[in-house]
Amino acid sequence: MHETFHVTADRAVNYKTLKEQLPHFLNADDTIVTNLANVSALLNVYLDDINWVGFYLFSGEKLVLGPFQGLPACTEIAIGRGVCGLAAKARATQIVADVTTIDNHIFCDPKSRSEIVVPIVKDGELFGVLDVDSPTVGRFTEADQALLEDVVALVVDILP
Ligand code: SME
Repeated sequence: MHETFHVTADRAVNYKTLKEQLPHFLNADDTIVTNLANVSALLNVYLDDINWVGFYLFSGEKLVLGPFQGLPACTEIAIGRGVCGLAAKARATQIVADVTTIDNHIFCDPKSRSEIVVPIVKDGELFGVLDVDSPTVGRFTEADQALLEDVVALVVDILP
């Protein structure tokens, strides 16, 4: 694996590059942790203005912290709690423009101001969520939702 990373000032270009490079970091023969560790690292390269990106994995009962980039985070989240738990329960992407305006947000990094969480579901079964936090209010748009849902679709493809 000898990838070169090209981050530009143009977000749309960066997202395109990310999508092109992502398949090189996904291998069904590697462990889930291996795959998700590199996916979180790749997202951290190409997503600008973020302070946390990573995965929570469904244990069968709750969400538990998986591979991520950023400050140490809460290790367990109940289904329905926080933005992550809500995305897992609703099985729908959640975008929160300003986390200080909602009650159901778990502060892991006090810098976080906005958040997007995409559920990961395979064959009807909840696998986990992909969570991205930003220090900027209103950071996440439909373009981020489209990108991250595409990323999750590729991750789902290599899950057992
Ligand atoms: N803010 C999330 C918790 C996870 S951390 O941000 C990494 C939430 O409200 O679910």
